[in-house]
Amino acid sequence: MVKKMYSWKSWWRSVSKNNFFVLKFGVSILLVGLGFALLYNRSSDFSSVSDTPFLENTQVSQPPLISLNSQESGDQIPSQGYEVKSIDSSGKCNLFVGDWVPYQGEPLYTNNSCSFIEEHQNCMKNGRPDKDYLHWRWNPLNCELPRLEPERFLELMKNKSLALIGDSISRNHVQSLLCMLSTVENAVEVYHDEEYKSRRWIFPSYNFMVSVIWSPFLAKALIFEDVNGVSTSEIELHLDELDQSWTKQFDTFDYMIFSSGKWFIKGTIYYENNHILGCHYCPKRNFTELGFNFAFRRVINNVFDYIVQSKHKGIIFYRTLTPDHFENGQWFSGGTCNRSLPSKGGEFELNEMDQYLRNIELGELEKALRKASENGVNLKLFDVTNLSLLRPDGHPGPYRFFQPFAKDKNGEVINDCLHWCLPGPIDYWNDLLMEMVKDTYA
Ligand SMILES: *[C@@H]1O[C@H](CO)[C@@H](O)[C@H](O)[C@H]1NC(C)=O
Ligand SMILES: *[C@@H]1O[C@H](CO)[C@@H](O)[C@H](O)[C@H]1NC(C)=O
Ligand SMILES: *[C@@H]1O[C@H](CO)[C@@H](O)[C@H](O)[C@H]1NC(C)=O
Ligand SMILES: *[C@@H]1O[C@H](CO)[C@@H](O)[C@H](O)[C@H]1NC(C)=O
Ligand SMILES: *[C@@H]1O[C@H](CO)[C@@H](O)[C@H](O)[C@H]1NC(C)=O
Repeated sequence: MVKKMYSWKSWWRSVSKNNFFVLKFGVSILLVGLGFALLYNRSSDFSSVSDTPFLENTQVSQPPLISLNSQESGDQIPSQGYEVKSIDSSGKCNLFVGDWVPYQGEPLYTNNSCSFIEEHQNCMKNGRPDKDYLHWRWNPLNCELPRLEPERFLELMKNKSLALIGDSISRNHVQSLLCMLSTVENAVEVYHDEEYKSRRWIFPSYNFMVSVIWSPFLAKALIFEDVNGVSTSEIELHLDELDQSWTKQFDTFDYMIFSSGKWFIKGTIYYENNHILGCHYCPKRNFTELGFNFAFRRVINNVFDYIVQSKHKGIIFYRTLTPDHFENGQWFSGGTCNRSLPSKGGEFELNEMDQYLRNIELGELEKALRKASENGVNLKLFDVTNLSLLRPDGHPGPYRFFQPFAKDKNGEVINDCLHWCLPGPIDYWNDLLMEMVKDTYA
């Protein structure tokens, strides 16, 4: 354990040493800071163009501290306990193991055929010059994955409701789904919260409801940010209370896709029973550092407990984390993602923090799957991590902004190597979703 701590420190030292930005601004910023910054951004109305560089929206953070609490010693790197099989025990094809193969077809929607694309992810419209990244399809090792047929999907979903619950990647995902389905019938928005973070749409002829619920921690969290997304204090996270924004509606959804993770790395004060238990990165406070892995495990465990005891009759997916692809630096130090082709297996690895998060989510899910099947709850793994890891070419990069190099060809632009272009590889998550939904009717 001591060794682990040491490696974090030396890792951080090397980041600091090699990073003038950190010194220049006298702040330490977490390696996956982009995740926060982008995840942290206010959801914009799809039509509004925000130019705010997300640096300003970034909460200053510090080297992540892994809990040294011995009961957490399960969080080991590298991954363990997750057997990779292309055929599972029931003889079914594992949809999540495979590769990306060339695809001649066109995406179902384009830069301006879909009104649901958030400006920051509308890569074509923003001037991304290459198109090859649109011509790869996900190919599971032992079966064919058909492309999503929007009409068939809507038929299957007649009178049903689906909710995506999580952070801005869930928003990215729902926009992809809405775009694909809107080729058949336009979705009509029936609800949005004040900040357009939680929204609901209906496909009228199908009476199919799609919701996205903003709940980056899945637990009760107080987030202190002003209208520009600038944080004024640590997040207050209640480890023992789930977020009512989804629990209140839980019974009304037929399908749910949960996900979480990246927000746990931010500076946060942990509460239990309304008392402060400790924190993760709170240098100005005299609280015990508990490590984000401690909190993530605790919360995700509560989420799964809630689900497996719920007697829910629909289908509940847990979508695993999606990696970022910064190369030659991090988001704050000129990191880019300017590839135009998928990568080969093994070329990219999850960064250390993502590995911790992934091990926790898979470990907790594995236990939950057993309990769920005992209780008759239909909980399923939706594992996008590896297939996403192979798509360094699918991010907006500089094309987060409209024509980023219009004024200066060599201008400095902060890249988004976390979210996905629309259209883009994230569309295939919906092909997977359709396959898994079809499977339950088979
Ligand atoms: C955007 O969409 C329009 C029509 O849908 C198409 O003509 C145009 O080429 C697209 N732009 C890019 C950059 O692909
Ligand atoms: C959907 O609901 C309508 C109205 O309640 C009903 O007529 C129809 O049969 C339902 N369709 C399906 C596929 O459940
Ligand atoms: C921090 O808390 C510990 C134990 O609660 C206490 O002994 C110590 O004096 C505190 N330090 C400061 C600077 O308040
Ligand atoms: C991609 O970015 C790197 C710097 O991170 C740069 O050296 C390289 O030339 C870029 N490639 C393209 C095709 O723009
Ligand atoms: C994911 O990729 C890694 C590295 O390429 C590999 O070791 C692991 O077995 C893969 N897992 C799955 C579920 O495909």
